[in-house]
Amino acid sequence: HHFPSATFLTSAPKLADCPADTGLEVAFAGRSNAGKSSAINTLTRQKALARTSRTPGRTQLINFFTVGDPMYRLVDLPGYGFAKVPEAVRREWQKHLAQYLRERRSLQGTVLVMDVRHPLTEFDQMMMGWADENDMPLHILLTKADKLKRGAAMGVLSKVRHQLKEWEDLVSVQLFSSHDRQGVEALNERLCQWLTP
Ligand code: GTP
Ligand code: MG
Repeated sequence: HHFPSATFLTSAPKLADCPADTGLEVAFAGRSNAGKSSAINTLTRQKALARTSRTPGRTQLINFFTVGDPMYRLVDLPGYGFAKVPEAVRREWQKHLAQYLRERRSLQGTVLVMDVRHPLTEFDQMMMGWADENDMPLHILLTKADKLKRGAAMGVLSKVRHQLKEWEDLVSVQLFSSHDRQGVEALNERLCQWLTP
C-alpha cells in the first residue's frame, strides 16, 4: 500500500452512516489529544489530511480515508474521554464506538494511540476490553516519543509490553512520533499486513 496516496472519503456521525461495509479498513482510536489524526498525517505524509488540533475533542465524526482504492480505508475515530463533552454525549459516542468495533466487518484491526507519557489509561483499558470481546487485533502506538529521552521511552515500551504479556497474540506495541517520524516504518508494515486480503 502506498499511504501517501490516501484521500478523504467521507465523514459519518454513526455506524449507520458509514460507507458500505466491504473491503478492508483499519481504525485509529485513543484518548482525545493522544495524536491519532497526527499519526494518520505522518503515515500518509500529508500535513492536513486528518484535522489535528491542540484542543482535545477536535475529531467528532468517524472520518474515512481511502488508500489508492475505496476497498482499502483508514478510519480516524473521535477521541474518547474528552472531559468537556457532556456525559450524555459521551455515553452516546461510547455506544457508537462499541457498535462500530463489534459490527464493522471490514475492520481488520485497530491502532490504539496512547501518549507515551500516559499509557494504558482507564479509557485505553475499556477499548482493550472491547477489542478482546470481539477478537479484534490491536496495535498500540506509544506516540509523542519525541517528548521523552530515548532511554525513558524504551523504559515505557518494555513496561507496557510486560503489562500486555497475556494479550500476546492480539496486541503489538511500538514507539512512535509524528514530530520526528520515528516508528513510521513499523506502523506501515503492520497496516500492510492488516490491509492485505
Ligand atoms: P482528537 O481528534 O481531539 O481526539 O485528538 P487526536 O488524537 O486526533 O490528536 P491530534 O493528532 O489532533 O494531536 C493533538 C496535539 O498533539 C496536537 O497539538 C499535535 O500537534 C500534538 N502531537 C500529536 N502527535 C505528536 C507527536 O508525536 N509529538 C508531539 N510532540 N506532539 C504531537
Ligand atoms: Mg483527531
